[in-house]
Amino acid sequence: MSLLSELQFLGVKSKKPRQMISYSWTDRNVVNELDVNLFCWKRDVNLEISDFLEKVLNKEPDPIQFHTSLDELDDHIGMAKHTWTWSDLRPLDLFWRDLTILARDFISFSENKSGTIHLRAITNDACTKFHTDGYTLRLFTTYYGKGTEWLPEKAVNRLALGTTNDKIVKDLSRIQQMEAFEVGILKGELPNRPNRIKGIVHRSPEIKQSGEKRIILRIDI
Ligand SMILES: [Fe+2]
Repeated sequence: MSLLSELQFLGVKSKKPRQMISYSWTDRNVVNELDVNLFCWKRDVNLEISDFLEKVLNKEPDPIQFHTSLDELDDHIGMAKHTWTWSDLRPLDLFWRDLTILARDFISFSENKSGTIHLRAITNDACTKFHTDGYTLRLFTTYYGKGTEWLPEKAVNRLALGTTNDKIVKDLSRIQQMEAFEVGILKGELPNRPNRIKGIVHRSPEIKQSGEKRIILRIDI
């Protein structure tokens, strides 16, 4: 049984948190289902964008962060684009268009049609301990470099969260890793929210030792 069908099977049989992996962005609405805590859209790497972002990484770009609404999105993205423009490196419209489409679609999920966008280069090991986060929904894409790792429910010992990875991960062989360009919509855990689903357990990949770099897009609503 493939991981995909196994996860879907688990979801049908119980109300344990489940994850959905799809090759279609139109399936993203599945995150509105109570028991789904992760939706992953698998898509191909765009080499033109990768090539552009490799050059951006060499510029050691400043991180970009802004709160925006659907109405302000185009203006704010225009400003972000300007921040990541250099005299010898012009913006790649393909990249900014892709980011805008993802941001517009994702922010539409929020009640007040707004969200906070983070776009940054990562050169260290951010959060390599498996954990859940305190937000309602987060879109996360690694545009360049290694993707986020996550655990299907079968592989998590939730009682061990906050301790060490060797206690949290019940089965190392079940650790999943998003690929570059894959788009994840992650559910977090908010305190005092009744009937909430447990957040997806995830972590950042280790890159510091190998000297790898990443460019990530994160949008919180
Ligand atoms: Fe996290």
